[in-house]
This record gives sequence, structure tokens and C-alpha cells, in this order.
Amino acid sequence: MKRLFGLAAVAVLAFSAPAWADGNAEEGASVFKKCMSCHKISADMKPMTGPNLFGVVGRKVAGVEGYAYSPKMKELAGTNPVWTEDLLDKYLENPKTIVPAGKMAFVGLPKPEDRKNVIAYLKAQSK
Ligand code: HEC
Repeated sequence: MKRLFGLAAVAVLAFSAPAWADGNAEEGASVFKKCMSCHKISADMKPMTGPNLFGVVGRKVAGVEGYAYSPKMKELAGTNPVWTEDLLDKYLENPKTIVPAGKMAFVGLPKPEDRKNVIAYLKAQSK
């Protein structure tokens, strides 16, 4: 009986967490360590290898003035003008699927909860 209950709980967890559900910003902070070699998130908007991610949730795709985005990232902006949580989720899962030949040399975050948490962190750090 106990075992059955455990299985049911796993099923509920698996189905109750759509990509847009709120993540945990504290856990996202540790996920963001994987991004910190290339990205800052600060109001001064200073770039590193990658553009500053301050306010990126809801920001224009390829929207940081003066940052040299790849042609592919600019192409994405033509079809998907805004970084919605859904678009970020897709990009962060594997950057090359939606921006092939983009400049972001990052393998991606295969775990949905890592993506959800880092998106929550990006939002929390942009206030
Ligand atoms: C090895 C360096 C590197 C790492 C690691 C990296 N990025 Fe990037 N990121 C880039 C570069 C370079 C670009 C610009 C891509 C382009 O123009 O094609 C970029 C672009 C982006 C963009 C688009 C921003 C905009 O202004 O349109 C987002 C969002 C982003 N990265 C999020 C992340 C997150 C979150 C992580 C960690 C999970 C991460 N990146 C890890 C280098 C990196």
C-alpha cells in the first residue's frame, strides 16, 4: 500500500509541473553558477562573453543595445520577438535547437526543474 502511494505521488509530481509553473529562485541560484562564466545579471547591463541577463524574462530577444549577437539569434528575434518563459525553457534545454549556429557554447539544461528554477532566479534577480 505504501509503495502504491509512493508511485502515485511521483505521478502527481510529474504531471503537476508545467513549464510555466513558478520555480524556486534559491535553487535557481545554484543552477545559475553554470551560466556565470559567461553571463552577469546586474542593472549596469555590463556584458561578459554573453549579454547581461538583467530583466531578460519578458525582454526583447537579442535586445541588448551594443551586444554583438549572432545572425541566428537576430533571426530568432524575427519570429519570436520576446523572451517568454516558454521560449527561455526551450532555449535553455538545448540552445542549438532554436538557435542553430548561435554563439552560446552551452550544452543546455536537460532537467525541466533546473530550467524552471533558473528562470525563477532570473526573474528574482531582475528586481
Ligand atoms: C560559454 C558561455 C555561455 C554560457 C555558459 C551560457 N551562455 Fe547564455 N549566451 C552566451 C552567448 C555568447 C550568448 C549570445 C548568443 C548569440 O548571439 O547567439 C548568450 C545568450 C543568452 C540568452 C539570450 C539573451 C538575449 O539578450 O537575447 C539567454 C537568455 C541566455 N544566454 C541564458 C543563459 C543561461 C540561463 C545560462 C546558464 C544556464 C547560459 N546562458 C549559459 C554565452 C553563454
